[in-house]
Amino acid sequence: MAVGILLVGGFGTRLKPLTDESPKPMLPVAGLPVTEHQILAAKKAGVHTLVLATSYLAEIFTPYFGDGAKWGIKILYAVEKEPLGTGGAIRNAAELLGRDEPVVVFNGDVLSRHSIADQIKFHTDNKADVTLHLIDVEDARAFGCVPTDADGRVTAFLEKMDNPVTNSINAGCYVFSPDVIDKIPLGTVVSVERETFPALVASGRSVFGYKEQSYWLDVGTPAALFKGSRDLVEGDFQAMAGTTIAPDAVITGGTSIGARCTIGAGVHIDDCIIGDDVMIGDGARLSHSFIAHGTAVAAGVQKSAHYLSQKLDLPIIV
Ligand code: GDD
Ligand code: MG
Repeated sequence: MAVGILLVGGFGTRLKPLTDESPKPMLPVAGLPVTEHQILAAKKAGVHTLVLATSYLAEIFTPYFGDGAKWGIKILYAVEKEPLGTGGAIRNAAELLGRDEPVVVFNGDVLSRHSIADQIKFHTDNKADVTLHLIDVEDARAFGCVPTDADGRVTAFLEKMDNPVTNSINAGCYVFSPDVIDKIPLGTVVSVERETFPALVASGRSVFGYKEQSYWLDVGTPAALFKGSRDLVEGDFQAMAGTTIAPDAVITGGTSIGARCTIGAGVHIDDCIIGDDVMIGDGARLSHSFIAHGTAVAAGVQKSAHYLSQKLDLPIIV
């Protein structure tokens, strides 16, 4: 068994304007918030208690996840008045957790099908201080670059470099032995990537890489968010409970539609993410667009590559 921390306090700058009204981890992917996909994966791996480390738009998480009973997991909240950085957030959230089980930390914008249970076992078997999930990517420049030796020990942690020394990157899921988290100063802005990991490696602590190559995606840009949703949708589209769709509507391109929506007659939708409680009027045509929760789209509206909400109508790059 293990406990966990979800890092969900970032501003989601690269996803603007989608993140003007929702924190990045609460954006829907195939009908559910990114965070909910992660909670389901954590629960499957035996995580029984999870702290959501929130800051930006913190108030959006609590009404949705409550105490976690709906997911069979205990959910707690650690709110940072000012963002503490990834390391500061981990230390702050760990104050709500015991010190007798491994702590699994998740970047809040990652969809991953790796076995978290195997990663925890690898960590325990190696008696490691920290075990990082690593994957190989073609272009490592936008990520934390993580070389390892033949035994899987991490030899350096190089956050976002122009000339990556390896294609092996930090995939944003860490297992910490609890005493290691206590080394991070409390109430201070700290980057786990730029400060904590390099310092642990330099001081000879046992930092391991758990390397594998299953499905993995950071949904931190509009294009990636749409890809993540399409990847999870099987067939032309999927719709959540309580949604009604006119028989002559044409929906394609891995579109996802949230709960309790109404899709009018003659509507065409291609490659869209549609939130909950959305109404799309007759004859509307939408492609490559994100329709936020609760939006009413008037009959006949035509939009391509737009963000639509009750208040905003802005172009996006997908
Ligand atoms: N609570 C809290 N407080 N959360 C934060 C803060 C903070 O101050 N800053 C960032 N986060 C959260 C974000 O909400 C996000 O879920 C996660 O930490 C990672 O931040 P990103 O902004 O998405 O980082 P990145 O994608 O540029 O890089 C990170 O992820 C890569 C893998 O996707 C790094 O960890 C890289 O090393 C890694 O390769
Ligand atoms: Mg990210």
